[in-house]
Amino acid sequence: MILAIETSCDDTCAAVVELSGRRALSNVVHTQTEHARYGGVVPEVASRAHLERLDGVIHSSLAAADVDLHDVTRVAVTTRPGLIGALLVGVAAAKGLAYARRLPLVPVNHLEGHVAAAYLAEPDLEPPFVALIASGGHTALYSVTEDRMSLLGETLDDAAGEALDKGARMLGLGFPGGPALQKAGQTGDPNRHDFPVGLKDKSNLDFSFSGLKTSLLYRLKAMDEAEVREELPHLAASYEAAVVEALTRKLLRAADLEDAPALVVVGGVAANARLRHGLDEVRGKSGVRLVVPPPSLCTDNAAMIGAAATRTPEVPYPGYLSLNARSV
Ligand code: KG4
Ligand code: ZN
Repeated sequence: MILAIETSCDDTCAAVVELSGRRALSNVVHTQTEHARYGGVVPEVASRAHLERLDGVIHSSLAAADVDLHDVTRVAVTTRPGLIGALLVGVAAAKGLAYARRLPLVPVNHLEGHVAAAYLAEPDLEPPFVALIASGGHTALYSVTEDRMSLLGETLDDAAGEALDKGARMLGLGFPGGPALQKAGQTGDPNRHDFPVGLKDKSNLDFSFSGLKTSLLYRLKAMDEAEVREELPHLAASYEAAVVEALTRKLLRAADLEDAPALVVVGGVAANARLRHGLDEVRGKSGVRLVVPPPSLCTDNAAMIGAAATRTPEVPYPGYLSLNARSV
């Protein structure tokens, strides 16, 4: 069994994953609510909250899997990228646990973790495939083979999740913005407002969301309060739809260019209902295999870190004591 720990941002996570990396026995996530009042993640608050919660979350993950520390044969932890103080809490805990039990440690890249969620969702999946990671910090397309992930294209400015969070904030919705926007736009007409889809006609595989954000800002400036209130569901739905279109367009372009036998969509934004619905249509039309893990494996979690650990070299006891977290 692998005990996996993830503390790169504002979710305190631990999970128990089988050594195959294809099945999670538990996946415990404590989402920090402390940040909502600030309208965004405050790094120092995140580190302190991880420190308070991590022990309890690890205990819960072992209990939920019905195993104890004696059953654990390696410890995996996200070492990069992320908020440095937040990462350090997880790395220190993982080192302590591994050292105490003379276990090897596996340092995992958070982005490789997001991609590995696909193996938990569909255990028979094998590379090669094209992966889209759309989260709060990253939006990028990768060509994934057995031993590497090659970048095909990425956002030139904001990440998709960041664009959703900023849009939601402009509309006076809560944090995190993705889920708030989804809720507000549920009954809205996604075609009512015409928002720009960044780099739509460029033949590359990059993304841009800054124009979309500016477009919403100017749209709101031209409306009075009552209008905004009345239009809110339509504004939310149309804004969300522009993000979804940018992501699906470039994903399909990548699939074409790479002639990929399978497509994987992961990261917090992959939890979005409008995107998932759009992807369902793609699935219906094209013959290509499309893997979109359930929302609980798309947003930050430790099961995906455990799954990625089976594809990452372990560092034997006690060489990892000098191992460090990295923000990038
Ligand atoms: O992968 P993730 O949990 O953390 C990072 O690694 O960044 O992604 C968080 C992002 C946030 O921007 C959040 O607003 C977005 O994912 N998100 C969603 C939904 N759930 C989370 N966006 C749209 N719809 C959702 N249901
Ligand atoms: Zn993430």
